[in-house]
Amino acid sequence: MLKIGFSKPEPANTGTLVVAVLDDRRLTPAAQALDKKTGGVVTRAMSTSRFKGRKEETLEILAVKGIPVARIMLLGFGKPEQLDALRLQGIGGALVAALNRSGEAVGHLQIETLTGAPLAAPDMAAHIAYGARLRAYRFDKYRTREKEEQKPSLKALNLLVTDVAAARKSFAPLDRVADAIYLARDIISEPPNVIYPESLAERCKRLTAFGIKVEVLDEKQMAKLGMGALLGVAQGSVKAPRMVVMRWDGAPRAKDKRPIAFCGKGVTFDTGGISIKPAAGMEDMKWDMAGAGAVIGVMQALAARRAKVNAVGVVGLVENMPDGNAQRPSDIVKSMSGRTIEVLNTDAEGRLVLADVCWYTQDRFKPKAMIDLATLTGAIIVALGHEYAGVFSNNDDLSSRLIAAGATTGEQLWRFPLGEAFDRDIDSDAADVKNIGSNRAAGSIIGAQFIHRFVNDVPWAHLDIAGVAWSKKDSAITPKGATAFGVRLLDRLVAAHYEEE
Ligand code: BES
Ligand code: MN
Ligand code: ZN
Repeated sequence: MLKIGFSKPEPANTGTLVVAVLDDRRLTPAAQALDKKTGGVVTRAMSTSRFKGRKEETLEILAVKGIPVARIMLLGFGKPEQLDALRLQGIGGALVAALNRSGEAVGHLQIETLTGAPLAAPDMAAHIAYGARLRAYRFDKYRTREKEEQKPSLKALNLLVTDVAAARKSFAPLDRVADAIYLARDIISEPPNVIYPESLAERCKRLTAFGIKVEVLDEKQMAKLGMGALLGVAQGSVKAPRMVVMRWDGAPRAKDKRPIAFCGKGVTFDTGGISIKPAAGMEDMKWDMAGAGAVIGVMQALAARRAKVNAVGVVGLVENMPDGNAQRPSDIVKSMSGRTIEVLNTDAEGRLVLADVCWYTQDRFKPKAMIDLATLTGAIIVALGHEYAGVFSNNDDLSSRLIAAGATTGEQLWRFPLGEAFDRDIDSDAADVKNIGSNRAAGSIIGAQFIHRFVNDVPWAHLDIAGVAWSKKDSAITPKGATAFGVRLLDRLVAAHYEEE
């Protein structure tokens, strides 16, 4: 794990010394001083390369005479007025990637307040450090034969900043959120023979260490509550289902005690059931619990940073398998709401799980807002690709708040409509509702519209994260693999609107 440190600016003797360069090769004071000290090496190196100082660009200068460090690295900061938190995180992430490419073990980055930049040096250092941690994540616990040179070289990143105390203070809550993102990425990355409903519920119990109250409901308790929709999905698997309720009461004396609620789809593996999926790509369905992973992550984040909010996270954990006892297309199940559902496609299972999870959550907790996260439809990938998640909501304010939180954290959302005509398309001939539409049209909206039937008046939003939960390529602060999409977004939503002063 990458070690992050903050210390006062003093000449580095080992590793790589990193200095910032602005757009159009404008040297920051630190870069200027280094240029002077090295007799113009910085300027000369830049002019013989394509390095322009644009954000996230890097340039290595090796074995410079007269200084003890092994290499200098120039790090592009771009335009100072655009250096907001998200930009800085991206720069921190790009730095980690560059140092790993170069084989470096220790980096020292000098940070100073820059004219025109929106954040002061301590906050800049904190966000760079945060981005560095997010990029440095790696799921490697099952690699037993990796040679040293195949592992990431970077072991420590040191941020040199005058006000060390202020930088540490600014970094502390971000560091906690990063821990929570690591937890969510770990959970989502684990294979389905390791993470299944019972074992995931056990992991959730560890959140008690943060002051979270964790309750686990088993099959019997869920049957008693009438959760026929969730249980119908689970019945084809030898792995028993679980529902986990996590509560963080960070604002017990608030005037309005009602919590904000997060619901997660936790299908630990989705074969499709009897409506079985094709073999090619089925392995992706190990992360069909990414919604639950994000909910678990955001609960840890809120508790770890002692957020002044009452929050509840509820995850429905099941495995969707075909076997002699699996549910059949045309089965009719009764959900906790009392509504009956005709299951016409057993692969549209996430909405069945959420029907009971969302109903239970609003019924028991009367939340002031309820947000569900789910890798619900392949259709959302057709519509939005991998840059945006879809948001569906019965409430314009909640939806706007989510979209704004998405823009500040880089976990972007795009709103889709709901409506009467879509709702008619899930009327069943045999039961109250059917779990698919009459054709392939508007697949993601149909999924959302189905969940909507199990939500009463509570301000509610559904996030379809099927396109963003897993990444096939590295990006600035997200290495390929599980992204933990939703953790930063919801943590930000809470910080901006649901915490007491
Ligand atoms: N878990 C899938 C959706 C999914 C697809 C997530 C690709 C991530 C990547 C979901 O349970 C599913 O199978 N949905 C069906 C719904 C259809 C049967 C109405 C789909 O999208 O094909
Ligand atoms: Mn499915
Ligand atoms: Zn699924």
